[in-house]
Amino acid sequence: MDKTEEAADILAEYNQQHIITLLKKLDEAKKQELIEQINNIDFHQLKELYDNTKKEIEIKENKIVAIDYLDKEKLSKNETERFNNLGENIIVNGKYAVVTMAGGQGTRLGHTGPKGTFKLDVYGKGKYLFEILAENLKEANKKYNVTIPWYIMTSKENNNATQEFLEKNNYFGYDKNNVMLFEQGELPLMDTDGKLLIGKDLKIKEASDGNGGVFCSLRKTGMLSDMKERGVKWVFIGGVDNVLLKMADVTLLGMAIDRNPKERVGVFCKMNGHPKVIEYSELPEKMAEEVDNNGELKFGESHIMCNLFTIDAVEKISKEPLIYHSAFKKNSYVDENGKEIIPTEPNSYKFEAFIFDSFELFDDIAILRGKREDDFAPVKNKEGVDSPKTAKELYEKYWEKINKSMN
Ligand code: UTP
Repeated sequence: MDKTEEAADILAEYNQQHIITLLKKLDEAKKQELIEQINNIDFHQLKELYDNTKKEIEIKENKIVAIDYLDKEKLSKNETERFNNLGENIIVNGKYAVVTMAGGQGTRLGHTGPKGTFKLDVYGKGKYLFEILAENLKEANKKYNVTIPWYIMTSKENNNATQEFLEKNNYFGYDKNNVMLFEQGELPLMDTDGKLLIGKDLKIKEASDGNGGVFCSLRKTGMLSDMKERGVKWVFIGGVDNVLLKMADVTLLGMAIDRNPKERVGVFCKMNGHPKVIEYSELPEKMAEEVDNNGELKFGESHIMCNLFTIDAVEKISKEPLIYHSAFKKNSYVDENGKEIIPTEPNSYKFEAFIFDSFELFDDIAILRGKREDDFAPVKNKEGVDSPKTAKELYEKYWEKINKSMN
C-alpha cells in the first residue's frame, strides 16, 4: 500500500473523509506535506479528546475540602523578613529562573499578533505587555545584582513574530543573551462533529496545546538542561497577560522554600486528598458560597497563573502524561470549496492542558494569598471585565500607590 492509501485508510477509520477529498485535490508537494502531518497525528488520542467533549464534568462535593493558605497581608514582620531573606538568597546566588507562558492565542482579546505585543494604554504613551514584564524583571535584577534567566514559551504560530518583536524593541533593555524563546507543542483543532479543521495553507489546522504543555516543552527543547547547567533550583512560571504579576517575589519564594519538604506551590482546594484547582464554573454553587467561622470564603483562593516550582518538580511533571480539557473557541478554517471561513461564534474545540493539573501529582502545596489590587490585573477580554480598560486602571492605581509610599 502506498503512503497516500495508508493515510486515506487512517482518515477513513477516524471519520475524516473531508481530508481524503482534500488529499486528492492537492499537487504532489502539498500532498506529501499533508501526509507527513497525518503520520504525526495521534488520531486515537484525538478521538478520545473529542468523546470527552460530550461528557459532563462531574465533581463530587463530598470529595472536595478547603486547602490551607497564608495571607501575605497578615504575615508578621518577622515572618515576612525570614521569607524575604530565604528568597533573596536564592535569587542573589543565581538559583532562580523565570518562565513566561506566551503561547496562548488570545482569542478573547482579539489582538492580532502574540498577546505580549499588545500595547496597554497606560500613562498616555502606552506599554507593551512584554515591556511591563521586562521592567518587572529588570527591577529585580538591579535590586539583587543579577540577571535572571528569562525563558519565554511561544507557539509554533507566534514564535517568529515574538522573536522579531523582541529584537525590534531591543528586548526592552533586557540582556538578550539571557532571554531564551522556546516553542510549545500543538494539537489539531476539531469542529463539533469531530472533523479536523483545515487551514489556509491546506494543512490540518493545529494550535498550541495549553499552558500545561510548559513542562514537557521545557524538557524537550533543552531549556530544562539549560536551567540545570546554570544551577537553577527554583522556577517561576507565569502568564503573559497580568500586568501586576510579580515575577521575583521574594516573600512567595521564601515561603515556598520554608514549606518545601514535598515541593509545594499555590492554589485552592483538596480533592481525594490531593491539591487541586477547580475552576469556579465547575465548583458546585453551594460550595462556591460556603464561608468559614471568620466569614471568609472556604474556597476563596483563586489561581492567578503565578506559580513556583523546584527544578526537580518541573522535571517530574515533564515526564507525566497530560490531561487535556477542551475549550470551545473561534477558529477560521477552509471549507470543502477552498473558501476561508472566519466564524463570528465559537466553532471548534481546542485541546489544552492546564498548568494547575500538575498540582495533583504532589501530596501538598503551599499557597500565598495576595491582594487582588496588588497582584492581579489580567488582560483577557476585549471589553468589560479583565479587559485593557480594567488592567490600565489597576496598573496606574498600583504604581501611584507605590510611588506615593516611596516619597
Ligand atoms: P489563557 O488560558 O487565558 O489563554 O492563557 P489565552 O490564549 O491567552 O487567551 P484566550 O483564552 O484564547 O482568549 C493564560 C496564559 O497561558 C498562556 C497564555 O499566553 C497566558 O499567558 N498559554 C495559554 C500558553 O502559553 N499556551 C497555551 O496553549 C495556552
